[in-house]
Amino acid sequence: MSIKRSSIHGQWSSRWAFILAATGSAVGLGNIWRFPYLVGENGGGAFVLVYLLCVVLVGIPIMMAEIMLGRRGRQSPINTMTSLAEEEGLSPYWKLLGWMGVLAGFIILSYYSVIAGWTLAYIFRTGAGVFVDADAALSKSIFTELISDPEKLLAWHTCFTLMTVIVVSRGVKNGLEQAVKFLMPALFILLLVMVGYAMSTEKFMDGLAYLFVPDLERLAEKNFFSDIFLPALGQAFFSLSIGMGAIMIYGSYLSHKSSISFNCFAIAIADTTVAILAGIAIFPIVFTYGLEPAGGPGLIFISLPIAFGQMPFGTFFGCLFFILLLFAAWTSGISLLEPAVTWLVENKNISRVKASALAGVVTWVLGLVTVLSFNHWAFSFTFAGAVKENGFFDIFDILTSNIMLPLGGLLVAIFAAWMMSRTSTVEELGLGDGAAYRAWRFAVRYIAPFGVIVIFLNAIGLFKLLGFTE
Ligand code: PFF
Repeated sequence: MSIKRSSIHGQWSSRWAFILAATGSAVGLGNIWRFPYLVGENGGGAFVLVYLLCVVLVGIPIMMAEIMLGRRGRQSPINTMTSLAEEEGLSPYWKLLGWMGVLAGFIILSYYSVIAGWTLAYIFRTGAGVFVDADAALSKSIFTELISDPEKLLAWHTCFTLMTVIVVSRGVKNGLEQAVKFLMPALFILLLVMVGYAMSTEKFMDGLAYLFVPDLERLAEKNFFSDIFLPALGQAFFSLSIGMGAIMIYGSYLSHKSSISFNCFAIAIADTTVAILAGIAIFPIVFTYGLEPAGGPGLIFISLPIAFGQMPFGTFFGCLFFILLLFAAWTSGISLLEPAVTWLVENKNISRVKASALAGVVTWVLGLVTVLSFNHWAFSFTFAGAVKENGFFDIFDILTSNIMLPLGGLLVAIFAAWMMSRTSTVEELGLGDGAAYRAWRFAVRYIAPFGVIVIFLNAIGLFKLLGFTE
């Protein structure tokens, strides 16, 4: 039986509109802020290598599966999972996958918005020329001053939440395509300018080596699974926006004619390239100015402004960089809210505007916890061999990206490759029944679930407990 639903929320105007919007969701703070600081905390080259493996072997196959489910269900992730489970004669509890995604979206957006707030603040700081000739000590003190002031953080967090709510309330298809079409290439070019600057610094080669050559000595100090594999897997999910329904809802607006596999590769390549370029731009600066690679979430906000303070037209480039980073964060934030909003519109019979406002209030309130995590409520603990200094913010981040997203992805893989009939997936994926389809099916059926499960079990030490590993 061939199923062709249509979404009550509309459809992308073209394949490119989808690719641009999904790239807008994928490319964000995850690539430019989170990736470099995790590389710094979790051992440089080895982390990057494992990350790339996770993207190719786990991320891309699951992304294809998630888009496929979205396109077949054509509703909010919760209702999509309910309909698809019913259609395949499965338990209605599959909708819990959608619920977990909505919850993860709220938690991620709540802290994402605070970090996007730092970006907003830095637009004005760099634009005002505060960093001209600044050294590492000054840059650090400017950052510390910002995060120790809950009122400032709250004000910026509020601005970003409002920006996100406004776009989502108007429907994500309006304007997103236009924004991403110009801003993504601009961000890309600016990253190349930054890489150009990094090449002129003394420690360019050291930065490159740090990023691409696994340091065996440092590895010996780490627990491979919990300190490298789990954070790398989490980062792959976070960066590709998979495992929580964001890409599923975008898939629900995708035309039946468009090729899911082509789209996924395009999105994953763009996403990974931006992350790697950010790494190449940042680490030479970190080493040249004597900063600590494991400096935590402040890494780019401390290192990049020093470079802007030194380079010709640095005030202009710096300001532009943070503006573009803000847009990248904005297009990601929108996709974090969309699954919850579509569910409210479908099930509670309220307007998109009301639904967006309601969802916005939830993330805003939750964001207060993160605002306080950097000052009054700060406490530290060790995770994955790294000292985490920002209590609840770190807990939210670890809980979502290292646990909820991979778990969501695992369930997507199990549903798509083990629960749905082969006929349904052949029909929906549109790859035919040849080698390409079989390669995808093998990857979502075996490699991706196996990868996630082995990493989970090792990371929580269950294998050790059962005596499987030393
Ligand atoms: N992928 C985004 C980034 O890298 O900044 C963050 C994100 C968006 C994560 C949407 C998860 C998601 F569903």
